[in-house]
Amino acid sequence: MSYVHSWPTEVRARALAGALVRRIRPRHPGWPAVLGPELDQGRRLRLRPPRVEDAEEWARVVRADQALLEPWWPSSEQSWAERSDVARWQERAWSASRTARKGYLVPMVIEVDGRFGGEMVLDRVDRAHGTAELGAWVASDFHGTSVARRSLRLMVRHAFAEVGLRRIVAPVGIGNRAAKLVLARNGFRKEGVLREHMHVGGKLLDHELWALLPEDADWL
Ligand SMILES: CC(C)(COP(=O)(O)OP(=O)(O)OC[C@H]1O[C@@H](n2cnc3c(N)ncnc32)[C@H](O)[C@@H]1OP(=O)(O)O)[C@@H](O)C(=O)NCCC(=O)NCCS
Repeated sequence: MSYVHSWPTEVRARALAGALVRRIRPRHPGWPAVLGPELDQGRRLRLRPPRVEDAEEWARVVRADQALLEPWWPSSEQSWAERSDVARWQERAWSASRTARKGYLVPMVIEVDGRFGGEMVLDRVDRAHGTAELGAWVASDFHGTSVARRSLRLMVRHAFAEVGLRRIVAPVGIGNRAAKLVLARNGFRKEGVLREHMHVGGKLLDHELWALLPEDADWL
């Protein structure tokens, strides 16, 4: 008879219940979370988990911003209309929430004055090694404002403090000047080029690898 079997029934029942709860609802530092709100230039900005109800606004913005987004989004056989259908968001929101519950993803909607303003995501979260990949897009209504910079800073602070990361990487498609500038201005360093890293916008594209360690960011 094993040692475990010699435990009192009550202790065994508690241990089993604990394991079951952890399996159904695992806990991972930094998720779920709401970051902000903070006020800047009269705008109220916060990052919060995606909701199924974001579908309509997400679809409207993604359709309107096709020319800006498509070159950098993963290539697809589907038309842009299919890719921006409300059903796509609902599938994505469910799948993101499942992956986040397992601790591998920190998906956030950027909310500006209560409106959908884009997405900021920590993907491929590796809690054992303290690393993750940052991905983002901002609705064109908010380009040229402080929304991209402030959202990035909210997410990075959260990643280093609550999630417990020590390194954040961001692959950027060659030619994506806006993304590169936002990263560089916030302390990210270019570490090299990932040849044919991803199929985006209908072609295999080299990506620059940008990365941030806490000591690189003087604003932390
Ligand atoms: C990347 C992104 C989040 C940056 O947000 P943003 O609000 O445009 O950022 P900023 O306004 O701070 O712009 C940064 C710089 O890029 C420039 N820029 C913006 N859009 C540009 C474009 N389409 N082409 C060239 N330069 C551009 C801006 O003029 C600014 O440079 P400046 O300060 O010298 O004038 C946003 O452009 C975006 O969502 N792009 C589409 C999706 C994407 O590329 N995501 C990143 C994938 S790695």
